[in-house]
Amino acid sequence: MSPSVSVQPQASTAKPLLAALQGNVAERPPFWLMRQAGRYLPEYRDLRQSVSGFLELCYTPDLAVEVTLQPIRRFKPDAAILFADILLIPDALGQDVAFKEGEGPVLNPIRTVEAVRRLEDKGLHGHLAPVYETVKRLAQELPDDVALIGFAGAPWTVATYMVEGGSSKDFSTVKRWAFSDPDGFGELIDRLVSATVAYLDRQIQAGAEVIQLFDTWAGALPEIAYRRWCLEPIAAIAKAIRDKHPSVPVIAFPRGSGMLYQTFATSGAVQGLSLDSSVPLDWAASSLQPHCAVQGNLDPQLLVAGGEAMRAEIARILDILGHGPFVFNLGHGIVPYTPVENVLELADQIRSWRRT
Ligand code: CP3
Repeated sequence: MSPSVSVQPQASTAKPLLAALQGNVAERPPFWLMRQAGRYLPEYRDLRQSVSGFLELCYTPDLAVEVTLQPIRRFKPDAAILFADILLIPDALGQDVAFKEGEGPVLNPIRTVEAVRRLEDKGLHGHLAPVYETVKRLAQELPDDVALIGFAGAPWTVATYMVEGGSSKDFSTVKRWAFSDPDGFGELIDRLVSATVAYLDRQIQAGAEVIQLFDTWAGALPEIAYRRWCLEPIAAIAKAIRDKHPSVPVIAFPRGSGMLYQTFATSGAVQGLSLDSSVPLDWAASSLQPHCAVQGNLDPQLLVAGGEAMRAEIARILDILGHGPFVFNLGHGIVPYTPVENVLELADQIRSWRRT
């Protein structure tokens, strides 16, 4: 292998996460937690204080590697997820992204086709090079049985931030554009599909073994728009990845999809579907799991509450979904006020569960 070709660890079924996403059912399911690195960990808060901003963490490989590994040391989950953010793509395309304390992300909004055409992608890989370096180092440092997950935001969710200029309650501006000028809005989505494919391809070359696509705001879309702006762009990205890297599974997290999760599962677009906490477990077992591996879906607030309520729901999820291809996770990301000891307890409970 020439030195310019980066090492991609062979997808190995020795890694429980990869085995589950290939459709295998193990004695106990693998687990990891969305947002497992972050503010609920005191060691993250310490490190975060030492830098000027969140983006500096994402773009400094030494720090991003350290933050990624923090939850691995504490809880020994079956996967590490690259520490980065879904808004690095708009940042790399030249839209000014800032994370303001207490305000969340702030972007100068893009609301016209002309503005989409002014986005710069020539510098994409140069800008994102520190992320690829982080992935490369993680691939070298992780224990043999821990899979490395690369990720990106799905085009619809990234577009909501790009068009609204930050977080939104009703998505009124982005929806107005998507509904009234689908061809123009489609140019933005197409740009995001190609930038995301290029970005994920590099993450995989650097050592990412699984890809997760976060479509946090999928549930804001009605049926026809859902197919066009959530399912189709994700399917296009997953297909491009599959064509280049057939051994790398893709997990989609189209949060809030409701019954449309089934459309997603039967489309065959992805190998894993990450379920939000509202998805009924029996329905997931009978209608989704026959088509692809499922991941989820403990309510993050049960991880905050802890105690018997948490233990009972973890047991119920394992008992209903643990007999098919399954990855234990939350239904959305860990919240900052989560007690660390509850996460430890969750990890112990999953590790000691056995399929009978
Ligand atoms: O451990 C991990 O999961 C890896 C890192 C990761 C982050 N963001 C770090 C982060 C991942 C996978 C994300 C994804 C992400 N980012 C999503 C999709 C998943 C979801 O939670 O719905 C979204 C919508 C974003 C956009 C984003 N990033 C927002 C809206 C915010 C501000 C609100 C918040 O939670 O703070 C962020 C900031 C962010 N991303 C933080 C972290 C650890 C907090 C920043 C800080 O420490 O100051």
